[in-house]
Amino acid sequence: MNQIKHVAIIMDGNGRWGIKQGKTRNFGHEKGIKTVEMIIKETIKKKIKFLTLFAFSTENWKRPQGERNFLFKLLEFYIKDKLDSLNKEKIKIKIIGQKIFTNKLNSLLNYAEYKTRKNKKLQINIALNYGSKNELLHAFNKLKNKKKKITIRDIKKNLFTKNTPDPELLIRTGNTKRLSNFLLWQIAYSEIFFEKKLWPDFTAHDYNKILSKFRKTKRNFGNI
Ligand code: FPP
Repeated sequence: MNQIKHVAIIMDGNGRWGIKQGKTRNFGHEKGIKTVEMIIKETIKKKIKFLTLFAFSTENWKRPQGERNFLFKLLEFYIKDKLDSLNKEKIKIKIIGQKIFTNKLNSLLNYAEYKTRKNKKLQINIALNYGSKNELLHAFNKLKNKKKKITIRDIKKNLFTKNTPDPELLIRTGNTKRLSNFLLWQIAYSEIFFEKKLWPDFTAHDYNKILSKFRKTKRNFGNI
């Protein structure tokens, strides 16, 4: 049976879900938070130590300002509302991506990271203004003046995910088969599960089915 230390998720389909309900895309994002809460609960239950959630990509800046602002407000409300309980649950919050939001949101994110820094039960990496190509560029620029040859270890140590093992599995909901510039280095050997359901419809049962399937998957890592 394969062990799971780290699950990464592309939470796709909120917008379509909102429209399907005859409401707005933002209504879908709001509902998406409920699925986030369920996933956190299930991940703790399964004693998985790392969870990375793709909340806002470097490409998502192209969305209308109204939707962007709504997403940032949602995140702000979520953190303000849940930080104490996340901390009590011994959850560590880490933001991956560059924090270039309003001073208010940047400070709140820094505070959430600081307050939960010693927690060890589950680390949640929230990918915000995150893009894999940006992350790699950032790492290469940090290493460019190194005298010796750059090693794999050097690159790993300079990614936003340093100190996080690579995800054994990546889940993408929303019936789309692409990686959208997410953790391209880290998922070199991850098992990828594309799920048809839209994120707000994704249930604990669906999640657990994927985890069980992953546990039974034969992983070769280039061997036979
Ligand atoms: C993708 O659906 C979803 C997002 C870009 C945002 C995800 C954000 C949340 C679920 C809320 C905040 C997260 C945390 C961690 C508290 P989409 O809008 O691309 O959907 P579509 O493919 O139907 O357009």
